[in-house]
Amino acid sequence: MSADQKSQMVHPLILGIETSCDETSVAVLDPEGRVLSNVIASQVEQHATYGGVVPEVAARAHLENLPRTLERALAQSRVSLDNINIVAATAGPGLIGALLVGLSAASALAFARRIPLVAVNHLEGHLFSAFLTPDGQPAHEVVYPFHGLVVSGGHAELVRVEEERVVPLARTRDDAPGEAFDKVARRAGLPYPGGPVIDTIAARSHGGRVALPIGRLGDGSNDFSFSGLKTAMLREFEKRGVSGKPLDPDAIDPDLVDLFASFQRAIVDALLERVEAIYRTEGIERLALSGGVAANSELRARLAAWGERRRVSVTLPVRALTTDNAAMIAWAGWLRYRRGGPQSAETVPARSRWPLGS
Ligand code: KG4
Ligand code: ZN
Repeated sequence: MSADQKSQMVHPLILGIETSCDETSVAVLDPEGRVLSNVIASQVEQHATYGGVVPEVAARAHLENLPRTLERALAQSRVSLDNINIVAATAGPGLIGALLVGLSAASALAFARRIPLVAVNHLEGHLFSAFLTPDGQPAHEVVYPFHGLVVSGGHAELVRVEEERVVPLARTRDDAPGEAFDKVARRAGLPYPGGPVIDTIAARSHGGRVALPIGRLGDGSNDFSFSGLKTAMLREFEKRGVSGKPLDPDAIDPDLVDLFASFQRAIVDALLERVEAIYRTEGIERLALSGGVAANSELRARLAAWGERRRVSVTLPVRALTTDNAAMIAWAGWLRYRRGGPQSAETVPARSRWPLGS
């Protein structure tokens, strides 16, 4: 590291790269967590016809999108590559081919510029994203310990975060909540991704309820299960003759609107029930919500209200940073680097599975 690079490390700039699933994203952050740029190239359209993410399509699209996403992120932050002091890239969990694209680019940058590369767990990225703020403000202070609820298309995890470790408390045994939203929407003929579509539809409900199961495992654990709810929804679709032919979300009948609202409510009920159970067993002082499903209006409103009732400080993520983005990767990478956590050499393996806390 040159003397110039050393002096820059007092106020380093962090480059984040995210390519674990279907968003190619590059961000530049300063050490106070100001998001100087966060460019996201979404592949949603490429995958929409399949109703889900196709791994090979994703890897190829990352390869095509990454160079210009990087250029745009640097241009928007008015930073040149020479001023970057740390590279943070998602190393897992995710699609191997997709991860390798971002990770190889990050390794090459770190190697060429002789700067550290931090391999970031995508879930840890989500976990700490709740502390980032909009409009170039510094991030909120991270006070340990705190509890984190990460709910996305691939995960539902409730964890306790201490300064030196993450302790898993509950996770999904089958579908993730975002996956349940997406699968149910797909079977109803609604556009992909289903979460935001169902969120909008549910807001039009006048309160009619359809009784649906809240996944309880019956084994005394706090783990989540959403597959029973999904199956119950498919049965409701059958009863109503919903066949999966394309449905216009703006023109569905009131009974179906109520059904989707009941489905969303059941998912939020399940999440809140488990948060309450953890609150009762070990206490929660601070709770940070994150992941794609953290954009859900009902979940945000009801978790905030729960926090007020229980006097728990609830941190809701900025909506734009709930789905996959590189700002959260840069931020989690920087926090890890600052804590002196394990830093990797230039060759870091991509990991399709990488549970939080391991
Ligand atoms: O975190 P994310 O971008 O990707 C994963 O790491 O999985 O989450 C994407 C998921 C999708 O399943 C999408 O349907 C869901 O987040 N999602 C929502 C909402 N916005 C996105 N689910 C419910 N309500 C929303 N408003
Ligand atoms: Zn994610």
